Amino acid sequence: MAAPIEELVDLDRNEISPQVYCSEEVYRREVETIFAKSWLLLGHESQVPKAGDFFTSSMAEDPVVVVRQRDGSLRAFLNQCRHRGMRVCRSEVGSARSFMCPYHGWTYGLEGDLKAVPHEEQYGEGFDKQSWGLRQVTRLETYKGLIFGCWDEDAVPIEEYLGDSAYYLDQLVDRLEGGTEVIGGVHKWLIDCNWKMPAEQFASDMYHAASAHVSAVQVFMPEDYDPQVHSMDQRKGAQFWTEGGHGGGYFFADTPNPAVWVDPVAQDWLRDTFDEASERLGRSRAARVSGHNTVFPNMSWLNGTNTLRVWHPRGPNQIEVWAWVIVDTAAPVHVKDAFRRGALRAFGPSGMLEQDDGENWVEVQKVLRGSTAAHNPLCYGMLEGRADQAEPDSAASHGPVFSDNAARNFYRRWLELMTGKSQREIEDRGVVNG
Ligand code: FES
Ligand SMILES: [Fe+2]
Repeated sequence: MAAPIEELVDLDRNEISPQVYCSEEVYRREVETIFAKSWLLLGHESQVPKAGDFFTSSMAEDPVVVVRQRDGSLRAFLNQCRHRGMRVCRSEVGSARSFMCPYHGWTYGLEGDLKAVPHEEQYGEGFDKQSWGLRQVTRLETYKGLIFGCWDEDAVPIEEYLGDSAYYLDQLVDRLEGGTEVIGGVHKWLIDCNWKMPAEQFASDMYHAASAHVSAVQVFMPEDYDPQVHSMDQRKGAQFWTEGGHGGGYFFADTPNPAVWVDPVAQDWLRDTFDEASERLGRSRAARVSGHNTVFPNMSWLNGTNTLRVWHPRGPNQIEVWAWVIVDTAAPVHVKDAFRRGALRAFGPSGMLEQDDGENWVEVQKVLRGSTAAHNPLCYGMLEGRADQAEPDSAASHGPVFSDNAARNFYRRWLELMTGKSQREIEDRGVVNG
């Protein structure tokens, strides 16, 4: 039995109990509170360009199917037959005129309506097909091509939910006229770790890069490697965090200076389009083509590398990563392909840097099998200092690039949803608020 939720995240003492990562009880509550209340990334509009196009995804462990409607709009449904609960659509992606359940053949239209029932006469006259359509995902909205779903009728609109993190997301999805598209399908793989490890890391942890990724980064070093340009100078970086639990970190730059693992052709594209991107985003934001980010609870991305992913929870001890390569629609095919190559080489299922992260998460999760380890508080006290450089147009809070502020902000939101208490009730006095 885990301690009360309030005791698992102690923001006054800067301690978090590993129970948040391994308790079944905590996980069940997360599914009912966090994942039932938050906007969750389902996919990208470019995956369903035409009427009848669909792809499947999940909201926590609820399977869903997203369908382009005949009028061009989008709908998402719980992918569960109303007869005996079978997964109606078993293809991961495709185009359809209707969805026939493989079990007994109930057939649903693109709008989720129950259209045909074999031996319908056996149900008698009172049977009303209209009451047995697929359960629709309560809210479905898009933000610049990204499709989000939410089960909470009262949720604020997605733009409001993203809040001040949209400023950072726009670096990825609004660099150029024409927006973005995803290419090369969705890469899916399992990691034996809790979903919050990657979500928190992408929100808050630049700190790990210098040790966890050092070997891989050395392999990528160009011959003319300049440590002044590529070094992780704390003074040139910042971490941001915003209301709602979102956060990220990056290094400032005067000109686009992508990470060493980004394919050289993709690097050139980021430099060649800098002026146009600057007109949309301002020079400071357009120049920062690297960084890690999380939109609460489980959507993350790396700017420049252009990997966008969701950490789907599969119980407390496993995640299914769904990763897209996202590119500027305006880019020529060979440039898009360069982004795909670079993203896969570094952060694909067998990517060189992806292995480093996964290895650490899996090992942590293994350590937590120990009954003492599973209750041994973890330190979230890296809070000193402020960001040396201010972000001119962002309303987010900022701190040093190596800090736990964004992680604490992530867990503050987590606690708020898990306990039903307001932000004000949870707010601790010691936190650095940028
Ligand atoms: S479970 Fe779908 S038709 Fe029976
Ligand atoms: Fe990493």
